[in-house]
Amino acid sequence: MTDAPDPAASAVTYASYLEVPGLLSLQNPRSEQDGQLAEHDELLFITIHQVYELWFKQVLHELRGDEAAPGAGGVQGALAEGDAYGAMALLGRVLKILKTLVSQVDVLETMTPLQFNSFRARLESSSGFQSAQFRELEAVLGRRDPRLLTNAVPGDPIWDRVRAATSRPSVWGSYLAFLAMRQHPVPAEVLEQDPFLPLESNESVQHVLALVYRGDDAAALLAERLIDLDEGLQEWRYRHVKMVERTIGAKPGTGGSSGVGYLSSTLFTPVFPDLWAVRQQF
Ligand code: HEM
Repeated sequence: MTDAPDPAASAVTYASYLEVPGLLSLQNPRSEQDGQLAEHDELLFITIHQVYELWFKQVLHELRGDEAAPGAGGVQGALAEGDAYGAMALLGRVLKILKTLVSQVDVLETMTPLQFNSFRARLESSSGFQSAQFRELEAVLGRRDPRLLTNAVPGDPIWDRVRAATSRPSVWGSYLAFLAMRQHPVPAEVLEQDPFLPLESNESVQHVLALVYRGDDAAALLAERLIDLDEGLQEWRYRHVKMVERTIGAKPGTGGSSGVGYLSSTLFTPVFPDLWAVRQQF
């Protein structure tokens, strides 16, 4: 007798549960004709972008929880419930994923400029600019900027999600509300601010953060996980721009930007500016 389930007795298989055939049918290099891949490296380019999109999906799920019940689950849900350890555990997971996202750049950097150029024209005007999930991630974290929606396709549900994210409290807003719940004196005008508006750097908030660091260990640890997240995202931007520079040099991007020049302008822009500003108070 063995406890191992009889595979024949179960309708669910590895392939059916994970939808492997469907998944493997989604990589369709444009240089492939009659089953022959003309440009060997195009498959890597597609695979790596798809893997990024899957991780973006997972990170969004971990941050904001269940779409059907906004605020339920995820880091934001845990913060709303005052559950510091739940939020910390989920942020820890997000940070591990972010490390994976950054290290994956190494794989794409094995592709030389010549290899990329062999299929680049086939991308036409498609570009990372059009990654709605990346924009959604920025919005969920706290970015409020009309440029988030520059590439929005009207009526496309994925872009509707970006728009919806800008009308909900951000992760930063959730953290401030969590601090208020723990009796920290977060100014009411900050807590009640219209979620559509950007959360500007604010000295009163920095004062609260200084108190948190000195007297509320759980909330301070959470602040450290948030600054890890901010730094991790900046690290991804840095690795991306260097990858772009070594692959296309000073050429403009397929999405119409100046390329490296534009991407460099997005470096060192913090997601949670108050968490950086408070450091000089210690
Ligand atoms: C050879 C590899 C790559 C090259 C040459 C490249 C190039 C570029 C360029 C030039 C831009 C600026 C927009 C434009 O004019 O097109 C851009 C933006 C972007 N790319 Fe890439 N990219 C590469 C790989 C990736 C990968 C693997 C991802 C993962 C999802 C990615 C995600 C993004 C995102 C999200 C943006 C928008 C960034 C922002 O506006 O802040 N890229 N990319």
